[in-house]
Amino acid sequence: MPEPSPSVYQRIGGDPGIASLVDQFYLRVFDDPELAPFFAHTSVDHLKAMQREFFSQALGGPLTYSGRPLREVHHGLGITLNQFQRFAEHLLRTLESFHLNRQEIDQIISRLNVDADQIVGQSNDSA
Ligand code: HEM
Repeated sequence: MPEPSPSVYQRIGGDPGIASLVDQFYLRVFDDPELAPFFAHTSVDHLKAMQREFFSQALGGPLTYSGRPLREVHHGLGITLNQFQRFAEHLLRTLESFHLNRQEIDQIISRLNVDADQIVGQSNDSA
């Protein structure tokens, strides 16, 4: 895994850019009838704050992720692979709307380093 270079973090506009990316991204997610119901009882402010930290940390910014492990947060919600893929597709579209090129987008996705098995499924097992 290469060291996070500042370039992609800076290209995205630093933490203000990440904050705006997270806002734009969840507009898409909450607009998707397949995904929106998952968030019915979620504090959106907290969710966005955690997601800003997660992105900042993954892209070499100054914030450190202070939330729970992703597997712990998501397992038990019963998210399907298809729903995970829809979520990823919304992220892709949001990154494209930030005028990042394909190489930068690939770099961001690989730095986020989230496997579907951390998110998808019913159990809270750590297997
Ligand atoms: C790349 C994939 C994903 C990442 C990086 C991610 C990241 C996160 C983060 C950082 C949090 C906040 C954790 C905390 O509060 O401690 C969170 C919460 C949440 N995520 Fe995800 N997530 C992903 C995929 C998904 C998908 C596919 C769904 C559903 C379709 C989903 C539904 C939720 C819900 C409902 C919460 C709030 C849980 C609660 O209120 O306790 N996530 N996610």
